[in-house]
Amino acid sequence: MSQLFSPATLRGLHLRNRAVVAPMCQYSAKDGFANDWHLVHLGRFAIGGFGLVILEAAGVTPEARISYADLGLWQDEHIAPLSRIVDFLHSQGAAAGIQLAHAGRKASTPVTWHDELIKTDAGKIEAGYEQWTPVGPSAVAHNADPAFTTPTALDQAGIDGVIQAFVAAAIRAEKAGFDTVEIHAAHGYLLNQFLSPLANSRTDQYGGSRENRMRLPLQVVEAVRAVWPADKPLLVRISVSDNRPDGWQPEDSVVLSQELKARGVDAVHCSSGGFDGGVINSVANYQVPFSKTVRDGAGIPTIAVGLISTPEEAEAILADGAGDFVALARGALDDPNWAVHARLALDGANYDLWPDPTKRVESMDRSLKRHSFAK
Ligand SMILES: Cc1cc2nc3c(=O)[nH]c(=O)nc-3n(C[C@H](O)[C@H](O)[C@H](O)COP(=O)(O)O)c2cc1C
Repeated sequence: MSQLFSPATLRGLHLRNRAVVAPMCQYSAKDGFANDWHLVHLGRFAIGGFGLVILEAAGVTPEARISYADLGLWQDEHIAPLSRIVDFLHSQGAAAGIQLAHAGRKASTPVTWHDELIKTDAGKIEAGYEQWTPVGPSAVAHNADPAFTTPTALDQAGIDGVIQAFVAAAIRAEKAGFDTVEIHAAHGYLLNQFLSPLANSRTDQYGGSRENRMRLPLQVVEAVRAVWPADKPLLVRISVSDNRPDGWQPEDSVVLSQELKARGVDAVHCSSGGFDGGVINSVANYQVPFSKTVRDGAGIPTIAVGLISTPEEAEAILADGAGDFVALARGALDDPNWAVHARLALDGANYDLWPDPTKRVESMDRSLKRHSFAK
């Protein structure tokens, strides 16, 4: 059997395979609530054979949202609709994760496809439109684009509040039945803003040295790990590199990942970028070397992500020891059945991942002598 489709275990969580759906904001929630869009969008990945489906960045406070249409986990009322999604993912054999997120200075940005709708008061109500002043490590805007407001620099009480908000959101995620949570410390959002010298110019214990800049992300991880069940894995997503010579570097990520491992993090999801001026050539598998660097350097399981598209590429990443899991975002949108197709491609005519009501595809495939990825 291929490595991609060999089962994996993280703490008490058993995954049917190593194909992961990466978190993808849908900008389709109102007041943070998941709805039928989220159920169907995510449900198709579970039907399509993925081992783990990670729900999009969910704001740990209302101000933590990238936009007013993000998912949220800041109140108990958010639990029930998320629980419905978790139950469905489980019913189809997939594990369920959710990304706990704070956008920091990149919060309160527009939802571009609502531009027309929010021109009227009625439209604003329909969309759930809101705007607010974001917070950040320092009072410096992400860039000059008017979409990004200059943030208020967090004081100690604000920092304590952020930690508590992550904790409360993790407790709600547990109540919703999630198997894992992923702390979002990537893509230039709040925890990444603290890590990176490109956004953090503080002079207190949260700024300056790398050790100080790592303090808040590590405090969040420690506090979440303390309330997250011991038999459930904790994931952290990082930008392994800011892709700028004056920014956070892969060697910083190795040190950070060692600290994450020491605090009970089970896997690091290795992305990159998120700050202005970061340059990387987005070719196939472009971030896989980051995953290998972290995995080798910190001795921690990693999730590789970034333009991974063919089953053979995914298998090679695992076989080469460049990652323990492979995640797809756009590739999963393009083909929600990617995992069942990859199973056929890598392991022969094997339809075990197809749910019973869809199994007739097997006879169809045989008679038509075709399936995706067939040569
Ligand atoms: C529609 C969309 C929404 C995304 N939302 C998130 C998100 O909520 N959290 C996150 O960490 N990354 C997000 N990403 C980044 C993806 O998780 C992934 O890292 C990136 O797209 C690279 O993988 P891919 O080449 O397979 O798409 C998003 C990407 C897309 C395409």
